[in-house]
Amino acid sequence: MNQGNWNLETVHGEIFRLEKLSCSPLIAAQLMKFLEKPNPSTTDLVEWISLDQILTARILKLANSRNYGFSKHISTLNLAIITIGLQPLKDLLRSITVIDQFSDTVVMNRKENREIFSHSICVAEGARRLAALVDYQTSGEAYIAGLLHDIGRQILTQMYPEDYRLACRHSQNQSIPACEAEKHILDCDHGQVGGWLARSWNFPDNLIDTIENHHQPQNSSCDKKLTYLVHLANLICHSMDRPDDDLAIPNHSDLESEILEKFKKHFLVNGRSLQDFQQLFEIKNRKYSIAS
Ligand SMILES: [Fe+2]
Ligand SMILES: [Fe+2]
Repeated sequence: MNQGNWNLETVHGEIFRLEKLSCSPLIAAQLMKFLEKPNPSTTDLVEWISLDQILTARILKLANSRNYGFSKHISTLNLAIITIGLQPLKDLLRSITVIDQFSDTVVMNRKENREIFSHSICVAEGARRLAALVDYQTSGEAYIAGLLHDIGRQILTQMYPEDYRLACRHSQNQSIPACEAEKHILDCDHGQVGGWLARSWNFPDNLIDTIENHHQPQNSSCDKKLTYLVHLANLICHSMDRPDDDLAIPNHSDLESEILEKFKKHFLVNGRSLQDFQQLFEIKNRKYSIAS
């Protein structure tokens, strides 16, 4: 059931035609300062960009555009920078950051945006560390997939804040998972919404698949391992949570056994406790603390 003037076909069309989303003004301001340095290193540049899911998504969009001839093949920031070239990238970042450090400040500073921001970093770092643990070849890709997994929530928060707030409230009032509440109120969930954008921005198929199915990894039809990595990183971050509206958190011991069972089944990782995984996820001394 949807509310008011919500029309799924219109929303789908609007998201499919979406050209830009705003990145965090805090990151934009810091990145601007960094770009003023005479010779910023590529490593530092990657580190700055990878702090913000929107900035990362916009760089991947450009690298996967038909102009460069690698459409749907670029899934890491290092490859994106090689494809675009350092100088054009710096020019692009300057134009994005000049606009975004001042625009939508009120929207971007809202509590839910900050929550999505820190949650995305937690899932990204967690997915990268899990990738190393289970010998998943491209840990950079696991990081990007984790960073972008909830981009649908950013889209809904930025483009349809009132409708999305209704869905979040419904999830909390009814104690049901966010996806269920979103489907009830908006006729779609944030995984689908993120998938629409990822598809229209020509992201590689495994990233589209992971964004779409991170809450239902059994439906993944592309790179099941990547989808399960991000799914489990998401669950582990929630098990360490402060409250977040992405997932109605079930009983803690249910969540723990769900995580351990899935590790055993999909990655043959046995004999670890939830605490071991949580310790693996602890992130210290990162620049992103500027945004919390
Ligand atoms: Fe999610
Ligand atoms: Fe999430």
